[in-house]
Amino acid sequence: MSEMKERKDYTKGPLCLSGRGVTRIFGSGAKANTAVDHVDFDFHEGEFVSIVGESGSGKTTLSKMLLGLLNVSEGEILFQGKPRDISTRAKRNEYWKGIQAIFQDPFASYNIFHKIDAVLLDCINMRGGKNLPYEKKVEMMTEACSFVNLKFAELTNKYPFELSGGQMQRLMIARIFLLKPKILLADEPTSMVDACSRATILDMLLNLRDETGMTIIFITHDIGLAYYISDTVYIMEHGKFVEYGKADEVILNPKAPYTKRLISDVPKIHEEWDLSTVDLSDDQY
Ligand SMILES: Nc1ncnc2c1ncn2[C@@H]1O[C@H](COP(=O)(O)OP(=O)(O)O)[C@@H](O)[C@H]1O
Ligand SMILES: [Mg+2]
Repeated sequence: MSEMKERKDYTKGPLCLSGRGVTRIFGSGAKANTAVDHVDFDFHEGEFVSIVGESGSGKTTLSKMLLGLLNVSEGEILFQGKPRDISTRAKRNEYWKGIQAIFQDPFASYNIFHKIDAVLLDCINMRGGKNLPYEKKVEMMTEACSFVNLKFAELTNKYPFELSGGQMQRLMIARIFLLKPKILLADEPTSMVDACSRATILDMLLNLRDETGMTIIFITHDIGLAYYISDTVYIMEHGKFVEYGKADEVILNPKAPYTKRLISDVPKIHEEWDLSTVDLSDDQY
């Protein structure tokens, strides 16, 4: 883990995505529920940011606002330092070239009747590669697959449901590798895969950032994962950021009671990946 922590400082780059007083209220009157409550943030180019909070703290609502899938009730989102304008379809499409997402359930994200190579071809077409010769497209798809340790030749003609959850999530990362957005928003992308796939996917996300300089916003309820992977963490409780800062500073020296509680739920945060201490031989009962 020590080598993971000695990385280039991405927290001082140009501004990529910011928020000022970003708020989302569902319902009205006595039933009003403030899911996201006046949050401020500055995410920089190439920064790996985790937003950490328990279920119901407002993470997905915030993600949807960042993606432009849900309106903000109050406040403002800025893209590259300027107020984000997604008021028309054309402007929204332009914004979506800059920000892409990976969700919890990779199977829910696309048409299961689309073969895998069609999924990757779509990405090349979306990036303006429609008229490239087919061999060039195959070369690009092969490169994207090998980036996530998949073999393109074995995937052509397969359908998404023929892959495992971990393979599907890696395919989603291959998609992002081809689309090369400025920002990747990953909402609990490892929560439906096994522990082994989880570690692989996290490392692939880090490689993606290192190779492309993409800003990655990683949403998780797991503060141990956030520590492992991020430059910066924002801790979210009841729609508010109760604490934020460099991952080491926040997690090794938490100030907010909520952060302390999240950490105490991970008794061995430094040994998150060490399973050797688990005694599997205990069959005396
Ligand atoms: N579409 C919606 N309509 C009404 N309430 C919602 C909606 N989406 C989320 N909420 C509420 O907003 C709060 C935050 O939910 P969510 O953003 O999904 O949290 P998280 O992703 O951290 O689990 C919860 O109280 C949830 O019930
Ligand atoms: Mg959620």
